[in-house]
Amino acid sequence: MDKHDEKIEFNEKFDHNLIKDHEYDNIQELDNPAPFWLMSLFYLSVIFSVFYGAYYFWLGIGDLQKAEYNKEISIAEINIKKNGSQGFDESQITLYTDEINIRAGAEIFATKTCTTCHGPEGGGNAIGPNLSDEYWIHGNQPVLLFQVVKNGVPAKGMTPFKGQLTENQIVQVLSFVLQRIQKSSPKNPKPPQGEKIGYYNNNLNTQKVDSLKVINK
Ligand code: HEC
Repeated sequence: MDKHDEKIEFNEKFDHNLIKDHEYDNIQELDNPAPFWLMSLFYLSVIFSVFYGAYYFWLGIGDLQKAEYNKEISIAEINIKKNGSQGFDESQITLYTDEINIRAGAEIFATKTCTTCHGPEGGGNAIGPNLSDEYWIHGNQPVLLFQVVKNGVPAKGMTPFKGQLTENQIVQVLSFVLQRIQKSSPKNPKPPQGEKIGYYNNNLNTQKVDSLKVINK
């Protein structure tokens, strides 16, 4: 089989309309179009690029990487100024009200030895006070109880949890204590300790650190 025969055999495999009628140096051109899906993809990306260009460049509506980065940094700087370098404001604690965080709080309460001193249901025992009643030793406000859990009351037997729980975890466990244990009816509740301050109401969160410090003796 010489070269010429080889070429003919090749051509017969294709629709003859696809073969362009010119031939140079014994070479014919085969016009084999790209499949429809590939061409659609190409045209769609051309159309997309017009909108993309308009949004980010010509109209300047969207932020480019650098602008977005600078925006994030300035928000972070504001937060640091407001909350200190920790980025956490201990004087303004808002409890979680969603189930996921409250459940995380329940998990902490059960596993981080809280139950050892406050009973499995938070009703108190020989060591720790009842957390379900309206009586509080340190006040019923999250800002105050945050300090109790964080720094503990070593003289009275309450463990400091500073190194064991993150600030967020303390807020989670307090969210559980103040929204699930409080007002519940644990078995064998310990008699009241402290002052009758009432139940903490998340909807009436009027915590003012200075005016409440009185309670935190
Ligand atoms: C080693 C025992 C012990 C452990 C563990 C413990 N507590 Fe306490 N807790 C106490 C005692 C005792 C007090 C009362 C302190 C006082 O009289 O000032 C207290 C007080 C508190 C108070 C304030 C109650 C009030 O009436 O003002 C809260 C809230 C509290 N604990 C939550 C927790 C949580 C949440 C945990 C787990 C992360 C925990 N405690 C773990 C012993 C403990």
